[in-house]
Amino acid sequence: MARKQAEGYLSAKEARAISRSNRKITNELEKQRKRKNVPETEYLTHMKNPNNAVEFDDLHTFFFTDVGTVRAVDGITFAVPQGKTVGVVGESGCGKSVTSLSLMQLLQRPQGQIVSGEIRLNAGDRAYNIAKTPDTVMQTLRGNMVSMIFQEPMTSLNPVFRIGDQVDEVISLHAQTMMSKEDVRARTIQLLDMVGIANSEGVSKMFPHELSGGMRQRVMIAMALACEPKVIIADEPTTALDVTIQAQILDLLRQLKDRINSSIMLITHDLGVIAEMADFVVVMYAGRIVESGTAEDIFYHPAHPYTIGLMESKPVVGKKVDRLYSIPGKVPNPVNMPDYCYFKDRCEKCIELCNGEYPGEIQLSETHRVSCWRYADGKETGRNGK
Ligand SMILES: Nc1ncnc2c1ncn2[C@@H]1O[C@H](COP(=O)(O)OP(=O)(O)OP(=O)(O)O)[C@@H](O)[C@H]1O
Ligand code: SF4
Ligand SMILES: [Mg+2]
Repeated sequence: MARKQAEGYLSAKEARAISRSNRKITNELEKQRKRKNVPETEYLTHMKNPNNAVEFDDLHTFFFTDVGTVRAVDGITFAVPQGKTVGVVGESGCGKSVTSLSLMQLLQRPQGQIVSGEIRLNAGDRAYNIAKTPDTVMQTLRGNMVSMIFQEPMTSLNPVFRIGDQVDEVISLHAQTMMSKEDVRARTIQLLDMVGIANSEGVSKMFPHELSGGMRQRVMIAMALACEPKVIIADEPTTALDVTIQAQILDLLRQLKDRINSSIMLITHDLGVIAEMADFVVVMYAGRIVESGTAEDIFYHPAHPYTIGLMESKPVVGKKVDRLYSIPGKVPNPVNMPDYCYFKDRCEKCIELCNGEYPGEIQLSETHRVSCWRYADGKETGRNGK
């Protein structure tokens, strides 16, 4: 069966056995999640560092699919400090969106489940372990404490409702105190103004298809910021936009973050965006963090061969090359991960140790960490040009 799975072939009998076993696991997890009157002690926790807004601690999020278990997020640990921007980079499919959806508890259930680890969310006087927080409590945290600007503004806005009504709904759903209809609409107009939409009154009466991509993205930002959340997750907020609008949206995010003193978790493929926005950077590969550090650590002293490959594959103004570098090979199958370094089959810098198990995390400086065997003996530091 293992050989067949590696070849991507499953017999009907095997597929049925996988489905049965998935159902057993997900039913059990769903039963836990859907319990009523869960005591606070089960989901309240303490931040490791009270200056952090969010702490991911050995998070494992899996999808139990008919072809096997997709280990989308496979043991990640990092923090988002208060008032700072943390950039999350990595190739398509490496688990960036699943990390953020885990924090929002918006995974596609029942197949998508946080199976172990903690996500600690700092709510000031208390901290929540999102992995254990029941749905009813989560509804009070989403929007107010943590909010998300989604990857696809066209699919995230409802095409059959007017813009104003959609923003109104977010405000009235999440407002701490009862608001009259007029107050809600006034706040909607204020938010649309704040995100730089000219003619906010007019736009509030339009449908999503009547807006340009940049305007729709601004509406998404207005909705995400409606309740001044402590943590803003921006999942590829500018991918669909042209560069001038992209710069405006990033500028806007930065201003708004400073105005409401939030933290941003910024997910993108675009290293240029990260360089401009992030204080800290987390590099993900195949569901794990391979390197993390301050923006300076990652941009000036990249250590992991994957990060170095990412840096080399970005065009640099003034640097003439015949061909832009591209990392050879592709990401391993998430259903069938190897038991050695996940990057080994694409790595041009392998050493003997790489034939062993997955490398542990090595601390290169107070802020800079990497998971790569090349740094295990302490001779290489990523700062000596090797
Ligand atoms: N609903 C789902 N069911 C099964 N597998 C899923 C589901 N959602 C995501 N995955 C898998 O989880 C892994 C991580 O996906 P994720 O969406 O987090 O990637 P990403 O890093 O955000 O990629 P991109 O940059 O393309 O947005 C992928 O292998 C994907 O196939
Ligand atoms: S551990 Fe080895 S194979 Fe993996 S990235 Fe480092 S050098 Fe390459
Ligand atoms: Mg994504």
